[in-house]
Amino acid sequence: MIQLTDSHDRKMDYLRISVTDRCNFRCQYCMPEDIVFQDKSHILTLEEMLTFAEACLFLGVNKVRVTGGEPLVRRGVVKFVGWLKDIGFDEVTMTSNGYLLEDNLEGLVEAGLDRINISLDTLQPEKFQFITRRNHFEKVWSSVMAALETPLSPVKINAVAMRGVNDDEIADMASLTMKYPMHVRFIELMPLNGDTDGSRFRSLFIPGSEILERAQDELGGLEPVEKEDPAAPADEFKFDGAPGTFGVITPVSEPFCARCSRLRLTADGKIHPCLLTDLDVPVKDAIRSEDPIPAIHEVLWHTARIKPPAGLTLPEESRNRTMSQIGG
Ligand code: 5AD
Ligand code: SF4
Repeated sequence: MIQLTDSHDRKMDYLRISVTDRCNFRCQYCMPEDIVFQDKSHILTLEEMLTFAEACLFLGVNKVRVTGGEPLVRRGVVKFVGWLKDIGFDEVTMTSNGYLLEDNLEGLVEAGLDRINISLDTLQPEKFQFITRRNHFEKVWSSVMAALETPLSPVKINAVAMRGVNDDEIADMASLTMKYPMHVRFIELMPLNGDTDGSRFRSLFIPGSEILERAQDELGGLEPVEKEDPAAPADEFKFDGAPGTFGVITPVSEPFCARCSRLRLTADGKIHPCLLTDLDVPVKDAIRSEDPIPAIHEVLWHTARIKPPAGLTLPEESRNRTMSQIGG
């Protein structure tokens, strides 16, 4: 088998599929309250997404993450996870906001999901409502607790760090890892979602290094954990004897582009080779063609050739996009 590799010698073996751009939350850093979603007629069917995934699998892409928007708002997504497992991906994971998770846990486990990342920025219901513009903290927390009782435990929790919003909860979030088998990671805020002059971003941004210092100052005893996967973006730490780990993901202060193995498929059938550029490669026609696998392969190799090198910074003009359009 030929391994898909880009022109900067990085293996591309990790696919993220955005199954929908829709979401039942409206997180401030992700989308405006009045976002207009794509017309459903532009969205690929799950069967078409599977064909694309299969073509990737033939080129050595052996890990896949199902994202959105919120993946669980797409009908059939649990079955889709099962298909991905059945065709032979080594690792099938999902990122969810947790709102619909509890009801889907059993199905996802049965389908063979390997891991779940739950987005949760705060442990305070009122603040949750402020950030997500929805009053659903209790339901998300209940999903987190339920997930810990399934084979999906340990659960990963991702929190976007924002100064003056949730930085007072660094210790509380980190302390969860002493009590539960949770991997809690703060992610540096990225300047997406229409913040074109960057002012909101500059006042909210907290570097990962400061988050770690504050956790260490307030709680003490954090020890670094050796990475299993060198391409994994999180820097992880552990409190002595804790069942979970605490860490930071630093796309802004320490970009991991040099180790980037990612490929993104958007819900409307485009490949995004890099979050930091607007580059996209249409693949819908190839998926819908008579002989889709070779046609998709041609598009994948083209994408690999144009995937930008490490060292880019997010250009101003990219900042109008939202994560839900690109596929978190
Ligand atoms: N900065 C950092 N992370 C973001 N996400 C969405 N928008 C941003 C942003 N501006 C991430 C969140 C969320 C996931 C779906 O995408 O972590 O959990
Ligand atoms: Fe939805 Fe996730 Fe975006 Fe929040 S961050 S609006 S939960 S896609």
